[in-house]
Order: sequence, then C-alpha cells, then structure tokens
Amino acid sequence: MKNIEIAPISRIEGHGKITVQLDDSGNVSDAHFHVMEIRGFEKFLEGAAVEEAPRITPRICGVCQTAHHLAAAKATDQVFGLEPPETAKKLRELLLLGQYVHSHALHFYILAGPDLVMGPESDPALRNVVGIYKSNPEIATMAIKTRKIGQEITATVGGKPISPVTAIPGGQSRGLSSDQQADLLAKAKNAIGLVEKGFEVAKPLFTKYAEEIELLGPVESHFAALTKNNGDITYYDGDVKVIDSTGNMVHEFEPENYLDYIEEKVQPWSYMKFPYLKQIGFPDGSYRVGPMARLNVINNIPTEKASEMFAEYKENFGLAQNPLLYHYARLIELMYASERAVQLLEDDSITGTDIRQPLTEQLMTKEEAKESSETRRGVGIIEATRGTLIHDYETDGAGFIKRANLIVSTGQNNLAIDQGVRETAKKMIHGEEVSEGLKNQLEMIVRAYDVCLSCATHAIDGSTSMELDIYDSNGELIKRQLL
Ligand code: NI
Ligand code: MG
Repeated sequence: MKNIEIAPISRIEGHGKITVQLDDSGNVSDAHFHVMEIRGFEKFLEGAAVEEAPRITPRICGVCQTAHHLAAAKATDQVFGLEPPETAKKLRELLLLGQYVHSHALHFYILAGPDLVMGPESDPALRNVVGIYKSNPEIATMAIKTRKIGQEITATVGGKPISPVTAIPGGQSRGLSSDQQADLLAKAKNAIGLVEKGFEVAKPLFTKYAEEIELLGPVESHFAALTKNNGDITYYDGDVKVIDSTGNMVHEFEPENYLDYIEEKVQPWSYMKFPYLKQIGFPDGSYRVGPMARLNVINNIPTEKASEMFAEYKENFGLAQNPLLYHYARLIELMYASERAVQLLEDDSITGTDIRQPLTEQLMTKEEAKESSETRRGVGIIEATRGTLIHDYETDGAGFIKRANLIVSTGQNNLAIDQGVRETAKKMIHGEEVSEGLKNQLEMIVRAYDVCLSCATHAIDGSTSMELDIYDSNGELIKRQLL
C-alpha cells in the first residue's frame, strides 16, 4: 500500500493538502482533502465587547476581511436592536461589492488562471502569475487594474483598503462625499469595460476545457445562498434559500433561524468542520455555497450585462454541478458586482448623511451583567465572495461576547471538495506513477472553490483536544488551557 501526498496545495488561501491511498493493485482505496491550520477566532472573541467584533474578525483572513467586517456588523446591529438607515445599508453593500471586484479578479486571473491559460499539465515553473505575465501581459495588466478598482472602493467606503473599519453598530461611521461618489463611479464604470474584455479572453476556455469540466470533481449536492425579491441575486441581505441537486427548494429561512437547518460535524482528518443540512442528515445533507451555488439558487440578476451572461450560462450548463464552472460563475459575478456598484453610485442617496441609528437603550453595567442571566444575540449572514458567511454572537446583558459561532463559506463546501477529490482520484489514478500534471488536476478541484482555509478553521471545541500555553515575558508557563 502506498500513499501519495500533494502538499501544499498551491494557489489557494491557507494551508491544505490532498492525500491519496493506493491498494496493493495500485488503485485508489481512499483520498481526502486536509486542512492542517487552525485559527481559533471563535474562542478569541469570547469576552470581547461585541462592538469590537467588526474590527477583530477581519483579522481572520487577508482576503475576506470585508466579508467578516460586515457579517460581524450585522450581528452586532441585532445584539443592540438597531436597524441601519437605508444609506448605511447601501454603503455597506458597496463596500462588499469592492471586495467582490478585488477578490474575484484575484482568483480568476492569478490563482486559477494559470491552469486554464497555460494548461493543467504545463510546466509548473511557469504555471503561475509570472507565467501569465510572460505569456499574456494583457491579461495580467487587466487583472491588476480590475483588482485595484475593488481595493479603491474598499478604501474609500471602508476607511482602509485592508481590514475596513467603517461599519459600526447601527450603521456607518462615515458617509461618501459627492467627489468620492464621482471618483468611484468613474472607476466602477471602468471595471465593467475591463471585465468585458476579460470575459472575451476567458469564455473560449470553457469550451477548450469541456473535458476537464466533466472530469474534475463533479458531485451532486444541495446548494445554498441568500436571495431576495423572489429569487434575485443578493450579497448583503436576504433570506437563505436551499435547493436540492435537481433544483427543488428544500428550505427557505431567515438568518436568525439558521441553527434549525445547519449543523456542523468534525472529522479526524481535518481541522475544518463539515457543515451539513440537519434535517437531511450527514453526509447526504452536503451542500455547496459560493458563485456556482448562488447562480443555481437564484433566478435573476438585475443588471444588464451580467444577466445576459447568466442566461447564456444557464442555457449551456443548466443546474451546474461541476466545480470548474465556479470559475465561469465567478466571472458573471464580477460583472454583476461592477454593474451593481455603478447602480449604487449613480443614485445620489448614496451621499446621504443619515447613516447611523444611535444606541439609546441603556445596557447593563459589567457588574449588573454578572448578577443577571440576561443574554443578547445577533446573527449576521451575508454572501461573501466564497459563499454564505454566518456570524452568530451571544452576549451578556452588558454586550460582552459569551459565545461566538462562525460558519464560513469554505467549510460548507468541505464535504463536496473531499468527495470530489476522492471520486476523481479513483477515476484517474491507476498505479503508483502519478504525473505532476495529474496531481495538479486534483489541486484544480480544490482551487475551483476558491477555498479560504484561514477563514474556515477557527473552530475549537471539545472535539479537538488542543491546548493553549500562555507564557510570561521570561518564558515561564503561566497557564495551560484546554481549548
Ligand atoms: Ni478568507
Ligand atoms: Mg463554527
């Protein structure tokens, strides 16, 4: 018996590997996708003032900061019983669109692009961003320009290009001036043109790699995403809709009721948990989130060019199951994000000054909260670029976090990724000689989901026996805590 290890998986966010076990005749007996890092933010949040969560949680990850900032802000609004004014909601949506433009452009062109532009079995020394730049400088420049526009939206609306700070309980800490509105509008319009050009280059790749699309990682699963207005695409708000693998609706629920529908399981080979649909069971209740899942769940994209792209995609692929189509869906979303940013910026209400509902309710003092059993709760769900993101906080009466649960997009795709890697390995590997190109094709399955492992492995509970050692400045152990 021999084990094949593909480690680390490159061009993803975080640290993961694939292992494949061969039996004596050289066929695959088992294969798994492993996540070896752990971040622990659910635990770090305990004891923090809940209004700090929108500033703490963006540190989970170097890519998805805006998503965490906003999911945390929405949960925090609820803890304090606040409803942000319309302008604040629009600003938050715009902030999230900035993240989409930057993250989707980064993933398609830089992380996934090399497999499709240079080819899955091309020389690994050039199958990367440098290779893209050498062979196709136009794509590389387009990628950088598009991504930059996303970062500029985040910087202006969020206060900083990285780890934004402007979403606060009840709204936004600062608005948008008319000058900023004009500047971002010009940039967002420019993004539409860049995405159009990018799509021209990218679209033929989905015909060229039709065989790989069929071969790499297909699984049948449920799909989940936020929707609103009877099936419109939405990123910032809406209800969660779940469909089965044939497209029939199985659940539709409000964010605060997610625990009636979603449960998480731990498996020994990974630090990343496996969320599944509770009423269907494990593992049949496997569901996927993210661009391809969203386009399966929604019926409508309410912007011009993205809706045309969506109609063509639907006609060609129907209810998509093959992970490489995540790339196609991502490009449609990149267009939607750019067009929706233009829509929001063309509407002058974005410069409104009523951007925060102030807190008027008197909270308990810390001392009062110690004596009281009163708790507060807030659940914030948004669509992060990689999929549905849930932040759920329970606080004491003074607003200090007692329990935090984060369910992150990549976790929800974990079952499908693991299964897809295993099924594909069984089909493709026969014998101990496994080419680099074939290994890369297994990595391409993981990459298609645009996994973010830093984001997804914060879970620490009784099922993982991790210890935290705390030392003083002299290196003396002060405390050892079982997490
Ligand atoms: Ni992330
Ligand atoms: Mg969790």
